Order: sequence, then structure tokens, then C-alpha cells
Amino acid sequence: MATAFITGSARGIGAAIALRLAKDGFNIALNDISEAMFEDNDIMEKIKAEGVECEKFICDVSSFADSEKTVKAIKERFGSIDVLVNNAGITRDGLLARMSEEQYDMVVAVNQKSVFNMSKFVGNIMMRQRSGRIINLASVAGVYGNAGQMNYSATKAAIIGMTKTVAKELGSRGVTCNAVAPGFIKTPMTDKLTEEQKNMMLGQIAMKRFGDVDDIAGVVSFLASKDAGYVTGQVIEISGGIMM
Ligand code: NAI
Repeated sequence: MATAFITGSARGIGAAIALRLAKDGFNIALNDISEAMFEDNDIMEKIKAEGVECEKFICDVSSFADSEKTVKAIKERFGSIDVLVNNAGITRDGLLARMSEEQYDMVVAVNQKSVFNMSKFVGNIMMRQRSGRIINLASVAGVYGNAGQMNYSATKAAIIGMTKTVAKELGSRGVTCNAVAPGFIKTPMTDKLTEEQKNMMLGQIAMKRFGDVDDIAGVVSFLASKDAGYVTGQVIEISGGIMM
């Protein structure tokens, strides 16, 4: 049975992707930064109820050394890694004039370096397998920019460049790499926004509703499926038609 590894999957979009890929028949390697993220949540039980195997691997994906150890542990546990979803991400918003160096560096480490770490270690396994799917979580903020998110939009734009580079480097070995760029999706990350910010966003969305985590999981499921075997290096916006 094929295995999917989803970073930052204790909650939010990552958890929805993990559950959807379990429904698609993948064994699931969950990840988050601490055990505590899995307390008071039943994501493992829900996944196991789909009749697939599931295990969690605690790791700070911004750490190169820990990422290497984690990928090795997943390969030993499941035998292969067929799908990698680089989903873990954080925000530390603030206008440029007030953004600290720490705010900037932290977002770069978690959102961007993690994609380097995991793509490198999992990519090596996929190249040897001569098959694999890497799916990265970018954002519309990386395509259009977003006031108050210089750090975040920098990482999401970088992810788009990284996606195309990995697609070019690994394509001849049967590995595809694509990105999804969500707009405004209802999760704990976006719950932090003010009502004013939320109303402003809504005004820009053609479909006049915020997205749901399952809107993202469905597209990721397609990119991981046989049907998407000839799709690589693409960025699919899932935004209800924001900023077209
Ligand atoms: P979330 O905050 O609900 O979930 C992110 C998960 O990543 C959390 O479980 C968190 O503990 C984990 N995480 C954070 N740092 C980590 C680290 N160093 N190592 C391992 N795990 C870590 O966020 P959400 O909304 O589910 O976002 C998921 C992805 O989708 C992120 O990459 C985000 O940038 C992206 N995205 C989200 C949008 C939204 O509207 N919610 C819009 C565009 C992109």
C-alpha cells in the first residue's frame, strides 16, 4: 500500500488532507511540532477508521537534522514514501516598518526551509523509487503579495519557485511536484484575523464565501492520484476566484 506523509497535519488543512488521502487508500504518516498538538483531537482515530495504517512523527520541520531522522523513520515504518505534502506553515504578521528580524527569520525557517529539508530527503527516496508526488502549500499571498505579510508572502513566493525547480530536477525520475495556492480558508490560522480583515477579504472573492479545508484536500487528492500523472510544475489557485 502506498504511503502519504503530510507535514503539520494535527489540525487545519493538513489534517483534512491526511483524512482525504486515507479515504483514497494511502497509509498516512502524520507530523506536527509537538505531541500536544495531537491532544484533544481524533485525527489518528478518524484515519484508522478508514482501514489504513497511520502513525505520527513529531518533528520541527524547520530543523534539517530532525527532518532527515523523521524521513528515515517513516521509510523504515512504511517501506516507501509515495506522496509528500509540505503543509506545515505559520504566520507572524506585521507591517514592514514594525516587523522584527525574529518575525521574519522564524517564518522563513518554518515555511520555506522545511520545504527544502523535506523535498531533499523524501525526494532522494522518490528518485530511487522512480515515482512520487510532492505537493506544496503556497498561498495567494505568494502570488499577489499581502500587506502585513512580507515574511509570509516571501516564503510562499519562494515555494512556487522551489516547486518548479523540483519539478524540473525530478521529472525524469517519475516524480511530479506541484503547488496549491489557497486563498482564505477557515482554519485556526485565519481565525486570528479581525472581522474587518475578514469582511475586506470577502469583498474580493468572486464566490462570496471563504473556503473550507475540504476545498484544498480535494485538489491535493487529485494531484496525488493517477489522473494527475502528467501534471507537474503547476500552481493551482484554490481561492473562490480572488484577484483574477
Ligand atoms: P494551521 O495553523 O491550522 O495548521 C498548521 C499546522 O502546522 C499546525 O498543526 C502547526 O502546529 C503545524 N506546524 C507549525 N510549525 C511547525 C513546525 N515547525 N514543524 C511541524 N509542524 C508545524 O494552518 P492552516 O491554515 O491549516 O495552514 C496549512 C498550510 O496552508 C500552511 O502552509 C499555510 O500557510 C497554508 N495556507 C493557509 C491558508 C488559510 O487561509 N488557512 C491560505 C493559504 C495558505
